[in-house]
Amino acid sequence: MFRERVFDAPSEVGHNTPALPNPLLISGASQLLTLRGRGPRRGAALADLGIIKDGALLVRDGRIAAVGPRAKIEALPESSAAEKLDLGGRVVLPGFVDSHTHLVHAASRAEEYELKIRGASYEEIARKGGGILNSVKKLRAATSGVLKTRALAALKKFAAYGTTTIEAKSGYGLNVPSELKILRLHQELAAAQPLGIVSTFLGAHTVPDDYRRTPAGISQYIALLTESLIPEIASAKLAEFCDVFCDRGAFTRQQSKQILAIAQQHGLAPRLHAEQLSRTGATQLAVQLGAASCDHLEQVNASDIAALSKSSTVATLLPGCDFHLGLQKYAPARKLIEAGAIVALATDYNPGTSPTLSMPMILSLACDQLRMTPAEAITAATINGAYALRRESQIGSLEVGKFADFAVFDVADYREIPYYFGINTCWLTVKRGTVVHAVDKVQI
Ligand code: NIG
Ligand code: FE
Repeated sequence: MFRERVFDAPSEVGHNTPALPNPLLISGASQLLTLRGRGPRRGAALADLGIIKDGALLVRDGRIAAVGPRAKIEALPESSAAEKLDLGGRVVLPGFVDSHTHLVHAASRAEEYELKIRGASYEEIARKGGGILNSVKKLRAATSGVLKTRALAALKKFAAYGTTTIEAKSGYGLNVPSELKILRLHQELAAAQPLGIVSTFLGAHTVPDDYRRTPAGISQYIALLTESLIPEIASAKLAEFCDVFCDRGAFTRQQSKQILAIAQQHGLAPRLHAEQLSRTGATQLAVQLGAASCDHLEQVNASDIAALSKSSTVATLLPGCDFHLGLQKYAPARKLIEAGAIVALATDYNPGTSPTLSMPMILSLACDQLRMTPAEAITAATINGAYALRRESQIGSLEVGKFADFAVFDVADYREIPYYFGINTCWLTVKRGTVVHAVDKVQI
C-alpha cells in the first residue's frame, strides 16, 4: 500500500521550502503533457504535446526517474516503496520556461499607463524622459536590498502561475555600478530561492541621459559597453547572454552588430529585441550571428520570416506588450509557424510594456490574438522556451533524466488553461522536486 500524509503549502518560496518525499510517485493526472521528443519544435510538431491520459511520474532526487501510463509506472519496483501524490484528475505539464523578462526593476510605471490610455504613444513618452529612462532613474536610486525584496516577491508570483525557470535581463542601470548591481542580484536571487534564473546583460537597452548630450555620446556609451562592461561581466560570469534593443530610438542594426560581436568574443551568446516598433533588420542580424533568439517581431517581413525558418534562432513572441500598449499589430505567429520557425512565447515582464508575469495569460493572448492553438502555445512556452535559453537538455519536457520541474493545473483538459483568461488555475508548481507553489494542502 502507498503511505499517505499531508504536505503543507509553502508560505514562501526559499531554499528552506521543504522538499517533497523522495522518491515520489505522482499519478491521477487526467492528462500528462510530456512534450517528449527532440526539441526544438517547428511547424506541425508544435501541436504535439505527447499526452499520456491517466499518466504518472516517478520523481527521484529532483529528477524524473520514470514517466508513462499509470499502470506501467505503478508496477515498477521502486513505486511500491515511494510515497504517492494523487492529482485527482488534474492536468500536469512541464513548468513554463519564461525566456524573456526584465525581472529587476524598482517600480511600476502606472503613471505612464494612464498617459498611454489618454493617447500618448510609447515613443512619445520615452522622448519626454519617461519610458526606460524613467525606470533607470528609479533603479539607480534604489538599494540592492529593496530591489531584492521586490524581485523575490515577483519570483513567488512567477511560481504561482506555473513558471519554473525565467531569463532575467539587466538594462535599467545603464552605467557600470547599476548594471553590475542588477547582474549580481540575478546571482543572489538564484541562490536565495529555487526558481531557475538565466542572466542576460542588456546594457544596450537605450542610451542613458548623460550620453545623449553630445553627438559623440552614443559611441562613447558603446565603448563603455564593449571595452569595460562586457569584459568585466564575462570574466565575473555575471551573464550568459547579451541582448540589444535594436529599434528606432534605441540602437541601430550596425551598432547592435558591433556590441554583440564583442559580446560573442567574450563568450556571451547574443539575443536581440527585434522589429518591435519599427523594422530595422535586427532579425536578419540575429540569424547571421546565430543568436539564441530574436524577440518581439511585430514588424517582420516575408524575408525575415524566411530567414528565421531556416535558422536555429528562436522567434520569441511577446503578445503581452501589444495587449498592454493597446496595439493592434501582433506578431505574425501563424506565418512564422507555417514557415517552420522555432516559435516561443514569453511574458517580457517589465514595467513599461508588459507588466505581467503570468504565462497562462500569455497563452490566452497567443490563442486569442496570435491564433495559435492551445497545444502550440504550450509547446512555445515550455520546450521551445527552454531551447531559447539553451537549456533543452535539462528542462522544458517531462522525460526521464530531466529535472522534475512541473506545474499542475486545476483543469481536466489542457485547453482550459488558456481558455480561462485572467484566471489562475495553477494548483501546484514543483521545481527540482521542491514545492514552490501549492493552492491546497497537498495530500500525500
Ligand atoms: O521588451 N523594448 C524594449 N524593452 C522592453 C520595454 C522596456 C521598458 O519600457 O521599460 C520591452 O518591451
Ligand atoms: Fe523586453
